[in-house]
Amino acid sequence: MTLGLNDKHNIPFLFVIFGGTGDLTKKKLIPAMYSLFRRGELSEDFAIVLTGRKTMSEAEYRTLMKENMRIYAADDLDEDVWDSFSARLYYRTMDFSVEYEVYESLQAFLTDLEIRLDTKGNRVYYLAVAPEFFGFITSNLYSHNMLENKSSWQRIMVEKPFGTSLEMASELNEEMLRALPEENIFRIDHYLGKEMVQNIIAIRFCNSIFESLWNHQYIDNIQIISTESIGIENRGSYYENAGILKDMLQNHILQMLSLICMEAPADLKPESVRDEKVKVLKSLRLFDEAPNASHIIVGQYGRGLVGEHEAVAYREEAKVSPDSSTPTFIALKACVDNFRWGGVPIYIRAGKRLDKRVSEIVIQFKKLPGSGFFKEFADTAPNVLVIRIQPSEGIYFHINAKKPGINFAIEEIGLDYCQTCKDENNTPGTYERLILEAVRNNPSSFTRWDELEYSWKYIGSIEHALAGRILEYPNYPSGSRGPKEADDMMEADGRSWWR
Ligand code: BG6
Repeated sequence: MTLGLNDKHNIPFLFVIFGGTGDLTKKKLIPAMYSLFRRGELSEDFAIVLTGRKTMSEAEYRTLMKENMRIYAADDLDEDVWDSFSARLYYRTMDFSVEYEVYESLQAFLTDLEIRLDTKGNRVYYLAVAPEFFGFITSNLYSHNMLENKSSWQRIMVEKPFGTSLEMASELNEEMLRALPEENIFRIDHYLGKEMVQNIIAIRFCNSIFESLWNHQYIDNIQIISTESIGIENRGSYYENAGILKDMLQNHILQMLSLICMEAPADLKPESVRDEKVKVLKSLRLFDEAPNASHIIVGQYGRGLVGEHEAVAYREEAKVSPDSSTPTFIALKACVDNFRWGGVPIYIRAGKRLDKRVSEIVIQFKKLPGSGFFKEFADTAPNVLVIRIQPSEGIYFHINAKKPGINFAIEEIGLDYCQTCKDENNTPGTYERLILEAVRNNPSSFTRWDELEYSWKYIGSIEHALAGRILEYPNYPSGSRGPKEADDMMEADGRSWWR
């Protein structure tokens, strides 16, 4: 088994979704499954069983999903394909937070269905529900013999957040491990399913030009930028507890950081890659002792103009406390304390309601020495490699060259590669990829427990450093670049954010 989805398999299975009427199901999961089905990536022997609290007949559910597909699906809806796909959707009204009978009856239904469809007992359970139900559902699946591996397999896919602190995450993990082994738990970080995040390994390790320079001797700094123009979008109660630290940093950003900073794995087996990522997370310098306040800048958005639209302040959003101290922005100077990265700052900038939506990783190489022949060129811009995760996927490389003409002058040149321009139709959506990887038992794009453990430790140290700090919120207007202190942090280091 290696990275990626190279092998096609005809694997029969049932896909059981808890949270069948929720946003994730209608916006992501059903469109992803439909698209996989349409592209012939799924076995003929599969069905999707959806559970939800709303009372609805199967026919009503199928009609509702068809309407949602028209709104959310990237693929055009093909009527014939949809008919054959939707015949595989089974809706069960069920309150999954209530014990016993409901699980008993679900098990009876699934067993009957798998005999009829010959799906061999293989099941993926997808927990698209609030995280407080992860443990409860898992233990009930276990106690109703729904996780018995015998000659088949059963896996659980869980959404983030996996816990809210190291302690809570450890408790949840232990609870889940009592029901099924680590290798059958697929913890989702949807950034790992993004094409350009997957591409990091190829860019780094398949190009000697980069890998031989990928260290403190040649790299001046790294920037991981993930900004959004949207606000919290009706997720007030979730976001109040999560904030930017747990919504973006603990997961997506630290995952990108670990891929950028890891050593080459011994091979491309998922466990070898994850071993290397863990070492990076373990080497992150914690903020526990003598935290430097200017290395962690937090912010919260106020009112402001986003495009043409007047946005409300975070504290005015639904289900948010009017004096909330939850941060919606963070800028951070992180350090990976190992030989490769000694002295290289890794700047992180992420937030909501900023001027634009962009996720990119910027590798800024060192400047020219500025002596001898190079004195002339002391002011030339450093080389920069930008891995553009979104919105336009691609790679940008910034170099210097002679300006055409009689005089010898230098100009900056951008070598720009647009990934989506070339192969848009072949790029699988994030959820398509992740679901297929779980069905094919390829855990490389999922988070292993020890990765989570160290990332929670890091987040804990930031929270510790922030405790007691007086936060005057809001401190940036919606539609802006965030608090000015984020720029000051760079300026103090003689650097600036990549724009
Ligand atoms: C989610 C966060 O995990 O990632 C959201 O909960 C955030 O708050 C989203 O908006 C960003 O994902 P993407 O794929 O749009 O960059």
